This record gives sequence, structure tokens and C-alpha cells, in this order.
Amino acid sequence: MEYTEVKVVIMAAGEGTRMKSSLPKVLHRAAGKTLVEWVADAAHAVTEKPILVYGNGGDAILQKFGDAFEYAYQAQRLGTGHAVMAAKDKFLKSNYTVVMAGDMPLIRPETLKRLVDEAISTDCDCMLLTASPENTPAYGRIIRDKDGHICRIVEERDATQEQKRIKELNVSFYCFKTTALLYALEQLRPENAQHEYYLTDCIQVLYAARKDVRSIKIDNMQECMGVNTRVQLAEAEAALRARINEKLMLCGVSMIDPANTYIEADVEIGQDTLVYPGVVIEGKTKIGSGCTIFQGSRINNSIIGDGTTVENSVLLYAKIGNYTKVGPNAYLRPGTNIGDHCRIGDFVEIKNAIIGDGTKVSHLTYVGDAKLGEDINIGCGVVFVNFDGKEKKITTVEDGAFIGCNTNLISPVNVGKGAYIAAGTTVTKDVPPDALAIGRAKELIKTGWAKGRYKIHRE
Ligand code: UD1
Ligand code: CA
Repeated sequence: MEYTEVKVVIMAAGEGTRMKSSLPKVLHRAAGKTLVEWVADAAHAVTEKPILVYGNGGDAILQKFGDAFEYAYQAQRLGTGHAVMAAKDKFLKSNYTVVMAGDMPLIRPETLKRLVDEAISTDCDCMLLTASPENTPAYGRIIRDKDGHICRIVEERDATQEQKRIKELNVSFYCFKTTALLYALEQLRPENAQHEYYLTDCIQVLYAARKDVRSIKIDNMQECMGVNTRVQLAEAEAALRARINEKLMLCGVSMIDPANTYIEADVEIGQDTLVYPGVVIEGKTKIGSGCTIFQGSRINNSIIGDGTTVENSVLLYAKIGNYTKVGPNAYLRPGTNIGDHCRIGDFVEIKNAIIGDGTKVSHLTYVGDAKLGEDINIGCGVVFVNFDGKEKKITTVEDGAFIGCNTNLISPVNVGKGAYIAAGTTVTKDVPPDALAIGRAKELIKTGWAKGRYKIHRE
């Protein structure tokens, strides 16, 4: 079916008072995306660019989303009907207008597509989504006439005791014929408990005008879960996370305890990679196949090859090759680019550094602003002294060099191919290929000195 004539309005201007936050509600994140981005994902099943109705804190929204949306500004929050009116100019010319709540991130693209397909194929004036979950949340109740036609929606606050017992609820996703919507919006009056223009009142207007209002029932109750409080935000997060993990597992990723594995929506992971509990993988991270990611790792916007192991480490915008071992307790910061078959051990921090294949940085080392070749051995406790208090400078180490323990490499400096730096050396001058550099204070031995000292202490 062609959807060129369908416009989608996402209502996102509400105050979100119950979130108790300075951030607009729809900018709160669940499983790595803002609530409204999850809603927009579903909208993309029927439109390229949804219309976002925004209000308070709008600058943050415009800045964040740029041209992902068309925008309509709702200056005052006078209700969901008023929100849709604010977008009128943008959908006026479409044949169908879909309206979505911006605070319901679990709605699936398939469900929205079904809503629109049914509206178009039945040629009705309004198709809306309803649900009858086990526990009835404080949603609008669907009222039907004696022939079973939907005649109105009553908000929980305006409902009588008897109406509150109705199990069929308004989920807040609608597909209107645009002409019918425009007609109904004109008639809305704020005569209700909240003195707002309710979008839901469009239904009784259409019913009175003998228009055809129909509904489809949602299959999966989870999809009608709205986020109004932080408690519900955490529930939505858990549900979205479970979806992400299930999809990955069905594609061949193993998880020991998916309920405790935190992977964001845009992460890609290859087959036969095993993820331990307590791992956080964020942003546009891409992990190859056959890797093992052990407990306690946080991997943000990083790229990892095949067969690599990461244990209890933090990776930020880092790139790691194949069959490399990282951690435990490594900290790989932006600009880290590590090759294949490397070893990055415990308490190693790397920043803005290229590390060639087969190079080992096994313990207690800082590598910053450096270029290291292949098959280099960096001893324990080596410091790349990259900052002189004013500027950061680059250190280079060529293939096959050996950097002894507790060496300081004062940048800018170059260590040539196959050169050897003795332990404890402070390197300030370039070291030619195959040379030895040794720079230590001369060791002095005073026989019996310590014994004498202990004697003084004892007295
Ligand atoms: C709404 C429905 C209710 C439905 C429920 C499902 C109405 C009157 N009620 O109630 O029938 O069962 O959703 O979740 O529509 N918004 C604006 N501008 C406003 C007011 C709200 O943009 O002036 C936006 C909010 O940001 C939110 C959405 O509209 O994304 C829904 O508003 P909310 O106040 O949460 O409505 P509910 O009380 O949940
Ligand atoms: Ca709501």
C-alpha cells in the first residue's frame, strides 16, 4: 500500500510532571534511545518524517533531533486535542493522519502499520487501537452503543464508577481520515475534569455525525505500556532490553543471564560471541563473532573484531582487532586503535594511540598520544609522558622494540626498530634502531648500613 498520503503526528509537548525532572519527558532514555525515538521508529513504518508536537524545553528537542522530524510548537499545554490542532498546517493536505502518544515507547512498527492498513482497507473515518489488559491502568475507557459501535471515550478522571469497570481501553494510537479529524477538532470543548481539549472527544463528535469509527485490538499488552513516572520508565527499559537481547540471541549471540545484560538498540554483535552478566554495551558498538565479553565491561561506541576477549574493562570509542585480549581492568579511551593478537593487560590506560599487531602492553601502563608498531613489548609500569603542562606531543615506537619496566618516554620521542630500553630509563632523546638506551642513577651499595639503622630504631 502507498503511504504518501499519510502524515503522522507524535504528541510530545506534555509537561511530564510525574517524572519530576528538568528534562522533557520524551527525552528520557530507555535502552539507549529517547522515548520519542522509539515511537518514531514505529512511525517510520508508515511515514518518512513524523511531525513532532513539542512544548516546554523545546530547544533541547530541536537541537537533539534536527531534521529527523517536522515540528509543530504547542505554546500552551491545553490537552491532546489541542496538541494535534497545533500541527494542523502540517497534515492538512494528507488523506490520513495518524496520531501517536510520544510517551509509549513499546509500540511496534508492525502494529502501527496494521492500524493504518485496516483504516485504509475498511475506508473508515477513524481506526483506533484498543487493549484489555489484566490490570486496568488509568486509561480512557471505550464506550460502545447497544450495537457495539464505539460512541465515545471517557477519561478515567471523568468516568463514573460503572464506566471505570469497563475493561476495553484507549491506547492512544489513532488513524483518522484527515477530513474527519479536522471536522472533529473544530468541535472540541474543554468541558471535563482537567479543562483540556481532549483528542479522545473527537470520537463522540464523529459518532454524532454518523461517521464510521472502528478499532483493532492490540495483540501484545506490553505495547500499551505508557511512561508517566520513573517507575514506568524502568519497566519500559526492561521490556525494551528484553526485546533487544532476544533478537541478538536468535541471531546467534549467547548470554548467560539476559535479564542482567544491558545492550542498546543499535549495537551489532556477531555469532558465537558470549556476553556475561553485568556487561553494558552502548551506542553504535559493533562486536565481531566468537568474542567473549566478561562481566563488568562497559563498551561504548567501539568496534571489536573476531575472537577477542574483553574482561571488566571500559572502552570508549575504541577500535580493537581480532584475537586480542583486553583486561581485566583496562581503560581504553577515544582514539585507541589496537591491532590483532595484542595483549592489553590490567590497569592499562590507552588514549589516542595506535598499537600494531602482536604488541603487548601487559600491566600498569599509560599510553597516550602514541604510535606503536608491531610485536613490541611494553614492560610493567611504563609511562608515555605526553603532556608537558601546555601541549600534548606524540611518541613513536617502531616494530620489535623492547621497553623495559618503569620506563618514562618523554614525548616527542622516537624509539627505533628493535631498540632496547633498559628498565627504569627516562627516555628524552630519540633511540636509533637496534640501540640500547639506559639512563638510571648509579646504584650504590653500603655494606651493613641497614643493620646499623635498625639498631638506632630499637634504642
Ligand atoms: C491519554 C488519553 C487516554 C489514553 C492514554 C494512553 C487523552 C485525553 N487521553 O491519556 O485516553 O488511555 O493517553 O496512554 O488523550 N500531550 C501534548 N500536549 C498536551 C497534552 C499532552 O503534547 O497538551 C502529549 C504528552 O506529551 C503525551 C501524550 O500527549 O506524550 C499523552 O498525554 P498524557 O497527558 O500522558 O495523556 P494521558 O493522561 O496518558
Ligand atoms: Ca500518558
